[in-house]
Order: sequence, then structure tokens, then C-alpha cells
Amino acid sequence: MNDRELLNLAAGAAKNAYAPYSRFHVGAALECADGTVFTGCNVENAASGECICAERTAVCKAVSEGYRDFTRIAVCSADSKSYCMPCGSCRQVLAEFSPDVEVLCARADGRYVSYRLSQLLPHMFRL
Ligand code: THU
Repeated sequence: MNDRELLNLAAGAAKNAYAPYSRFHVGAALECADGTVFTGCNVENAASGECICAERTAVCKAVSEGYRDFTRIAVCSADSKSYCMPCGSCRQVLAEFSPDVEVLCARADGRYVSYRLSQLLPHMFRL
């Protein structure tokens, strides 16, 4: 699967985002080492601390199905004029499983930038 296809899956997932509070709809598509892709969207809650990001939704779906080795993750939001970057918590959660995963960050017009997680989270905490 090429980058654009993975980004398209993320964009599709964003359509399921439950974001009545921020109105910021995020989608993620997480590619595993064997090519399997898990998507995710953000799921908000009236108790704001309970909001779950799109990336972590995808990671939890993957891990709960027995997948822990990730190669790429695409993140996008049609509501974002700037590149949709994973938050610090999502970077840390991704680092738990794949510290050098490739991270594709798209903006509303479809342009995207690519980083290694190690660039986005240098000196990451791992036991
Ligand atoms: N959000 C994500 O889904 N991923 C991120 O990496 C950053 C933020 C969501 C959380 C919340 O529902 C909304 O975007 C606004 O912060």
C-alpha cells in the first residue's frame, strides 16, 4: 500500500470521529508489519479528560487483535489547515510498540509530511 492509500484510509476513518465538543475530526490508519491496517478515529466525551485520540484508537484495535509491530501510521483531519501531528500522548503510546514507526501527517488539502517517530519523540521513555 502506498502513502496515499494509507492516507485515504485515515481520511475515511475520520468520518466516524465522535467530536461534538472540539468539532475536530481526526482519522488514523496504522499499518502493521504484515500489511494489515487498523483504522481509528477520535472519540470524545463530556468529561474532557476521557477523550481518546484517533491514533490511540487504532493502536488499541491493533494490539487487541494481536498486532504489535507497526510500520507506518497516517494521521489526518479535514479540519486542519496545518499538518495534523500526533499529540505527545499518542507519540508515547506508539513508542511502546514501534519506536521508529513512520508517521505521515496530512493537512486538509491532502499534502503531507513524513517523520520517523524517533524524530517526533527524541529520547523517548522506554523500560
Ligand atoms: N486528537 C487526535 O485524535 N489525535 C491527536 O494526535 C491530537 C488530537 C483529537 C483529540 C480531540 O478529540 C480533538 O482532536 C481535539 O483535540
